[in-house]
Order: sequence, then structure tokens, then C-alpha cells
Amino acid sequence: MKYLVCNFKNKLSKEECMRYNRIIKDETFKLNLVIMPSFPNISIFDSNEYSLGAQDISSIIDEKVTGEVTGEQLKSFGCSYVLVGHSERREFKKEINIDFINKITNAQSSGLNVIYCIGETIQEKEAGKTYDVLEKQISEVLNNVELKNIIIAYEPVWAIGSGKVPTNSLLQNNIEYIKDIIDEKYEQDIKVLYGGSITLENITDITRIDAVDGFLVGGASLNPNNVIEMAKILENL
Ligand code: PGA
Repeated sequence: MKYLVCNFKNKLSKEECMRYNRIIKDETFKLNLVIMPSFPNISIFDSNEYSLGAQDISSIIDEKVTGEVTGEQLKSFGCSYVLVGHSERREFKKEINIDFINKITNAQSSGLNVIYCIGETIQEKEAGKTYDVLEKQISEVLNNVELKNIIIAYEPVWAIGSGKVPTNSLLQNNIEYIKDIIDEKYEQDIKVLYGGSITLENITDITRIDAVDGFLVGGASLNPNNVIEMAKILENL
């Protein structure tokens, strides 16, 4: 069963989320649909037809800290997934490996599934360093956590929000590389999603890549009708 993970980022107001939920709640989904609103809007989404996820979780272990949100709180709101390592958090919040390790540890101790995002920048791609970057982002974090309930999202930084999507052969190679090193290092099969400028128009083409287990969608997921249509495409594969 494919994944369709909808990352709303800091978009959609309370009213927009209520409208969104009204549109999707009566649909039946036969794939792993995960809705990730911003924290204040999480409780608006209340259907059993999809799973709920959070875009962040505290990296602080066992302390009282103002402004932080724990895994137990997320679970109490029905979340079962959390995003860790998104390139926007790496860039704007200067999050680094220790943050990701602690966030994954916190998520796992609350029984949440983790979607760990990795991907190279355009400079790294042009310098021929994609494999090195992916290998480091994987081993420096996953060597320090238990490899359970983790999905990888491969999101080339240059593809996020840019309208640029890797060619199918590049995507196939990079995702197979990720799966191979995880198998080699940890002797485990892992699901790998693709994220970056996915739209209703290009999703069909990318589903032709066998190695892709689903999609992490930002901008195009802000329209519930798009999500319903994308879900139908993935369900009919
Ligand atoms: P995008 O974002 O689909 O708007 O490119 C994807 C993401 O940041 O997860």
C-alpha cells in the first residue's frame, strides 16, 4: 500500500482546515494517507479514513521546556506519524543530527512512526556528492537510534517548492542507493517516499518508479480535491 503524506507546513487557517476536513472526511481511502497540519489545527482532522501526523516534535528529553510539544501530547491528539529532518528545519531552524536523534528517540518512546527526511542541495548535486550526502545523513542519525518504525523521505532540496522534479532514472538510482545502504548497514528493508514539487500532473509519471513507496507532498496537498485525486491515482496502481 502506497503512502501519501500531506505536509501543510505553516499554511491553512482554522477555517480552511475545517473546510478541508469536511471535503475529505467522507471519502474512503485505500492507501496510507497521512495529514500533517500545523499544531493548532491537528484536532480539526477527525476521520478514521486517514492518519494524522505532526510536522515536528520536541528534541528535548525529560525536561520542562516552554513552547515544546511532546510525543505523548501528539499521541493524545491522535497523531501516529511525525516528520523529522525536513530541509526547511535544517536551513531555517539550524537543526542538526543530535536534534534528529533526540526527536526520533522521543517519537519512538511514544510509539510514533517517524518520517526522516534526507536530500542533497543543488551545490552538492552539481559537485557529484549526492551519494556521500545521503550516506552521511543516514548513518550519522540512524546509527544512533533504533531502526524501528522509520520511513525515509528522499527530498532533494532543489526540488522542494521549485517546480523541478528529478528524472525518473535519477530518482530510481538515488532511492535504490538509499535502500541498498540501509540493507547493507542495518539489514533491514525500509520504505522510501519521494518529496519535492509533486503535483496532480506529475505524480502518475513518478509512480512508474518501482522503488518509490509513496509521496510527501507540500504545496499540492493544500487543496483537498487534489489530494483525493492523487489518492485515486495511487490506489489504482
Ligand atoms: P513541495 O514540498 O511539495 O511544496 O515541493 C514538499 C516538502 O517540503 O515536503
